[in-house]
Amino acid sequence: PDTAQDFKVADLSLAAFGRKEIALAEHEMPGLMAIRDEYAAEQPLAGARITGSLHMTVQTAVLIETLVALGARVRWASCNIFSTQDHAAAAVAVGPEGTPENPGGVPVFAWKGETLEEYWWCTEQALTWPDTETGGPNMILDDGGDATLLLHKGVEYEKDGEVPAVETAESDEHRVILELLHRTLAESPRKWTQLASEIRGVTEETTTGVHRLYEMQQEGTLLFPAINVNDAVTKSKFDNKYGCRHSLIDGINRATDVLIGGKVAVVCGYGDVGKGCAESLRGQGARVVITEIDPICALQAAMDGYQVARLEDFVETADIFITTTGNKDIILASDMARMKHQAIVGNIGHFDNEIDMAGLAQIPGVVRDEVKPQVHTWTFEDGRKIIVLSEGRLLNLGNATGHPSFVMSNSFANQTIAQIELFTRTEAYPIGVYVLPKLLDEKVARLHLDALGARLTELRPEQAAYIGVPVQGPYKSDHYRY
Ligand code: NAI
Repeated sequence: PDTAQDFKVADLSLAAFGRKEIALAEHEMPGLMAIRDEYAAEQPLAGARITGSLHMTVQTAVLIETLVALGARVRWASCNIFSTQDHAAAAVAVGPEGTPENPGGVPVFAWKGETLEEYWWCTEQALTWPDTETGGPNMILDDGGDATLLLHKGVEYEKDGEVPAVETAESDEHRVILELLHRTLAESPRKWTQLASEIRGVTEETTTGVHRLYEMQQEGTLLFPAINVNDAVTKSKFDNKYGCRHSLIDGINRATDVLIGGKVAVVCGYGDVGKGCAESLRGQGARVVITEIDPICALQAAMDGYQVARLEDFVETADIFITTTGNKDIILASDMARMKHQAIVGNIGHFDNEIDMAGLAQIPGVVRDEVKPQVHTWTFEDGRKIIVLSEGRLLNLGNATGHPSFVMSNSFANQTIAQIELFTRTEAYPIGVYVLPKLLDEKVARLHLDALGARLTELRPEQAAYIGVPVQGPYKSDHYRY
């Protein structure tokens, strides 16, 4: 990685390839490009300094360049050690007008296959604005909440005047965070407090990050307002579902190329992500089994025609296991020890704690072998082996390239609108967690219909009056569930 400049990517010479794929993606992201056109003259993000922590893919490059087109300055890191597409990162660092010899793009700190130390260093770099008074951003765009978490922990420990001892860390990753905060506290004891002082808010992309925000709100520790982008209908009911329907099997195919038809696949969790995953596996002819703790989702799965069972019922016989819960300890080491030879185990939930990788490594006699990056076999003493994808991290981004552009256009149109909303109407949002108004949600959907050749029916005024909604929308009450 190039360290002479204010960015760090794997290989700048990949920029031209990245730029070509960005151009293809722009055509497939009509919502995001329409927002670019709509606000080009107005420049609503002029003055915004946005720190982004979100998978550094081709689609994210289009998001970043949209934010820049609306006037923002941006610094970026990925939100997962395996999810960066190095050509996209290079293209963003070089910028549309720059060259690898003379880069002029956005400071991006991301490459595929970071260590945990590198990952948190990248997050710190994205949050640290060298040429500003506070040294920090005034907006955050987060996916999973890691940038928000680092900042909140930094501020909390600076208030305490001390960081918990590294020995108290509950995991490897926790240890890395504590070490980083020990370093910053020693170097600059008010770094995070100062850096956070002008932040107007955060817009959060995913279920797991949103969950963290509501927890902080309840504990009263949230430092600034947040927009929950995930729960826009045009985000979670599209990206989480149709995105995973596309990218789950893409990941399994690229990793293993195993025929999915006829196999028994267990999908743990039948929320938005689980629904998309189950459908994609069924589409390939797999016999899909669902595990759920929520009776409503379990009943939905049954009515959709899936067998609902417990993991223990299929742990010895299923061929493919996918976790989608956002919860921890879904597949334990003791479960993996019982699986059949060459069973495939993967996670598509945000964090890597759904599958007990640490426990797997501790099984006596178990041997880990790399087939290729992000594909490993684990062989037990009796010779049986299982195949684990992306070391238990989200496999659709680790083994494949994540969701395709069209669905991300919906998610990122919401992100962009949320950034504009929080940045330009800060006073309307006291500290708390908000979802975007339904009219904006409908707008995002509207922006994607033409590209699919869909003709929307126009509501007539008498009909609007009859069902009690405005002709221009919003068309549903807030409690409607889609
Ligand atoms: P969700 O809340 O709609 O679904 C999760 C489901 O898991 C719920 O129905 C819940 O009842 C179930 N569950 C919880 N504990 C369980 C257990 N022990 N056994 C079986 N089921 C259990 O959440 P959503 O939106 O589906 O997201 C799931 C995860 O995927 C989150 O971590 C989210 O951040 C992540 N995500 C990942 C994406 C990707 O591209 N890899 C895209 C979107 C979300």
